[in-house]
Amino acid sequence: MAEAKGTIKRDRLYTEEDADLGLIKDRKIAVLGYGSQGHAQAQNMRDQGLDVIVGNVEDRFAEQARADGFEVVPIAEAVRRGQVILMLIPDEVQAAVHKSDIEPHLTRDHTLVFASGYAVHFGLITPPGFLDVILAVPNCVGAIVRERYARGQGVFGHFGVHQDVTGQAHDLALAVAMGIGILRFGAIKTTFGEEVAINLFAETAGLSGMIKYLLTAFEVLIEAGFSAEKAYCETFYEVQFLVESICRMPFGEAVAFGSPTATYLALTKTGDVVTEDVRERMRQMLARIQAGEMVRDWNLEQLAGCPVLTQRKREILEHPISEVEKLFLERKLASGGI
Ligand code: NAI
Repeated sequence: MAEAKGTIKRDRLYTEEDADLGLIKDRKIAVLGYGSQGHAQAQNMRDQGLDVIVGNVEDRFAEQARADGFEVVPIAEAVRRGQVILMLIPDEVQAAVHKSDIEPHLTRDHTLVFASGYAVHFGLITPPGFLDVILAVPNCVGAIVRERYARGQGVFGHFGVHQDVTGQAHDLALAVAMGIGILRFGAIKTTFGEEVAINLFAETAGLSGMIKYLLTAFEVLIEAGFSAEKAYCETFYEVQFLVESICRMPFGEAVAFGSPTATYLALTKTGDVVTEDVRERMRQMLARIQAGEMVRDWNLEQLAGCPVLTQRKREILEHPISEVEKLFLERKLASGGI
């Protein structure tokens, strides 16, 4: 089992009972960006009676915000008119937009809210020292944040404080967390550094590691002469049942949910494939993330016009999996099955 040493740290789960939405009820909320998180958070806040304005460049996202009934103004104007500023544009463009359209208009009456620790923790943005800087992050894509909220449900999240000038930053972060809907489920307190490290770890070694893992398993089966349909079925198709089991029951029961043979092999043989050196490479990846290497890499890639990313996206679209998954997706739709 894991080499966890000493006491495992635990976090307190904060819920709506811990928050006072009244702290932001009389303050104008400026949501900058109306993409994945922006559209969800703006609507969830409006549904709770908060006064929301959207700051956006003139593009399809601005059109969508207007179609959803929001007043949409340029980003600089939204900052001037708002008091609680939600930074919901992509991490990689935040520094430039902050410099040109946000920072010049910030006053001590503003609260700056991020949905990721990325730009502040890695020093791409240094917010002025005279205002509160906080974090409120749903742990999933915006479409689900909105869909669940509209159904009366919540999603898990994080909140945190980078800079507390008013002495109220913790409570303000909780109020924003409630506004965007994450306290319905519950949120834990984090730091900007922890949030971004763990998030980039998920995207390199953790959850997203499953992409590489499944593709490799698929390719090994194809190489061995199995059909694409058979390889797909035992990898990408079946993974959904494991995920669904994990969502419904304790992990210890989910991994033993299959037949005795499946459970025996899963619990005794997978270590022959995912060997201990994977643990060491995961540790190294976490250290590289914390040292800022991933952010430097990504900045350089963007400066070069994203050649590696473009190539990798093309490769995955052209991967043999694409043909067979088309069939599975069509059959899912046609049969109403999963
Ligand atoms: P997104 O990519 O959906 O953002 C699109 C929005 O950004 C649009 O309104 C667009 O007009 C605006 N935008 C794009 N480029 C711009 C530029 N150069 N100048 C001005 N505006 C520009 O962003 P997303 O994914 O919603 O991310 C926003 C924040 O939320 C980020 O900090 C991200 O890390 C965080 N976050 C995202 C999650 C997700 O699942 N998408 C989950 C949790 C946090």
